[in-house]
Amino acid sequence: MKKLSNVHPTIFVIFGGTGDLNKRKLAPALYNLFREGYMPSKFAIIGTGRTNYSDQKYQEELLNSVNQFSRNGKVDKSIWDKFESNIHYCSVNISEQDSFQNLKVAIDSYQKEFGAETKVIFYLAVAPNHFATIAKSLCKHKLTQDENNSRIVIEKPFGNDLETAKELNLLLSEIFTEKQIYRIDHYLGKETVQNMMAFRFANSLFEPLWNRTYIEHVQISVTEQLGVGDRGGYYEGAGALRDMIQNHLLQLLCLVGMEAPISFNADEIRNRKVEVLKAVRPFTEEEISFNAVRGQYTKGWVEGKEVLGYRNEKGVDPQSNTETFAAVKFFIDNWRWQGIPFYLRTGKRLNQTSSIITIQFKDVPHHIFSEGTSETWQQNRLIISIQPEMSIRLQVQSKRPGLDMVLNPVDMVFDYKGTYSEDTPEAYETLLLDAMTGDQTLFMRGDQVETAWELVMPIIHAWENKTSLNFPNYTADSWGPETAEALIARDGFHWFTLPLKEK
Ligand code: BG6
Repeated sequence: MKKLSNVHPTIFVIFGGTGDLNKRKLAPALYNLFREGYMPSKFAIIGTGRTNYSDQKYQEELLNSVNQFSRNGKVDKSIWDKFESNIHYCSVNISEQDSFQNLKVAIDSYQKEFGAETKVIFYLAVAPNHFATIAKSLCKHKLTQDENNSRIVIEKPFGNDLETAKELNLLLSEIFTEKQIYRIDHYLGKETVQNMMAFRFANSLFEPLWNRTYIEHVQISVTEQLGVGDRGGYYEGAGALRDMIQNHLLQLLCLVGMEAPISFNADEIRNRKVEVLKAVRPFTEEEISFNAVRGQYTKGWVEGKEVLGYRNEKGVDPQSNTETFAAVKFFIDNWRWQGIPFYLRTGKRLNQTSSIITIQFKDVPHHIFSEGTSETWQQNRLIISIQPEMSIRLQVQSKRPGLDMVLNPVDMVFDYKGTYSEDTPEAYETLLLDAMTGDQTLFMRGDQVETAWELVMPIIHAWENKTSLNFPNYTADSWGPETAEALIARDGFHWFTLPLKEK
């Protein structure tokens, strides 16, 4: 069902309108929504920034970005021409109140033209230290009071720790109601991540097995080949725990671990997710070193090119203690998951870019086949591959054709590419459309963000207070530090990876 019916005239105000996120993600997403008929018939995109641009110059800038970064390649000229007539630029210096007055005038004039039901979405694609200033100024200029029609979208990182996240939540709650606040975690907009809800709750087959009786352990692995690139300045104050585990990986853990919601209602789903986070066993100080390991990459070779070590990247302290890799073993203390380890790992400059969730089932209770019959005996596994391969594979034992009884594992695969001919929308297309239609299901609620911070804070403190003596401890293009292998090997398991497909 197309969500279009809920889309009212909309004014998108993008703070950070000349920034990287807008160029790479937001502008291409809005264009693709327009191209596919998902934008409302009346809409305006107001890019803001400190630079002085005319509308025409700004439109040209965005055209270049969309041509470069859209999943559909270069724009179709006739579609772009219609789209660009909705793009405007308003120069805003966020530390000057007069600038907001100019913005208000622009918004008011569109609102008059579009009618009373017009939604105004303020998208904060700026550094987090500007969130509070912008929110306060919007409030001061009376741009936020209409709780049915004005919304704010906040990019991650939402706070830098529990305390700052709480402060930000408090400030936002003084200005907006929770239904106006859209906290982004772009992983939730990914097609394969959304499909986890369908997979778990639209099939009766897996639910009876989805518990500690049948599942042995769960792995959530988000590995990246890229290094920090030119984001060293930001990353130094973040590290893998803040940048990935606190948000993306814990969200994936919620989707695997949550109870069945009673409906597809945003708050119902978010309640079920918060319950999982609340049930995750917090670490005592002594437990941290047994359950969490960190790493930092050193230089190496990636696809024939020499790459820098983290400490030599731009904006990075040559003695940096920031982790570019983290692996954590969590337990969820409830009836469904008691005693079942959830291993999470993520890192930069690793051997593969891939995000996969592996559910390993327990072994059969009794082996009737002799040892010789099974070439590579393997317990059943369900592998949900989020990216770059988009698939779900169930690995089962089967008999090899032939006169002898020989067993080996085979994959039953649902592969998006082979099943659907449609292109998959980018996460930002889904999320922007949801922000327009007022659907908060795929956005983080305030308590969710705080609970996730609560979980990682003890690890953050322990790591910040104790400089790692062995950094850097993994080579670019490897699978991370040996301690990460040891973390899982101690329990008799190993990290699972999918074989790379030929390029
Ligand atoms: C971002 C992190 O949130 O997610 C980046 O800040 C990371 O460091 C990125 O590279 C990964 O997203 P994706 O969609 O490429 O898996």
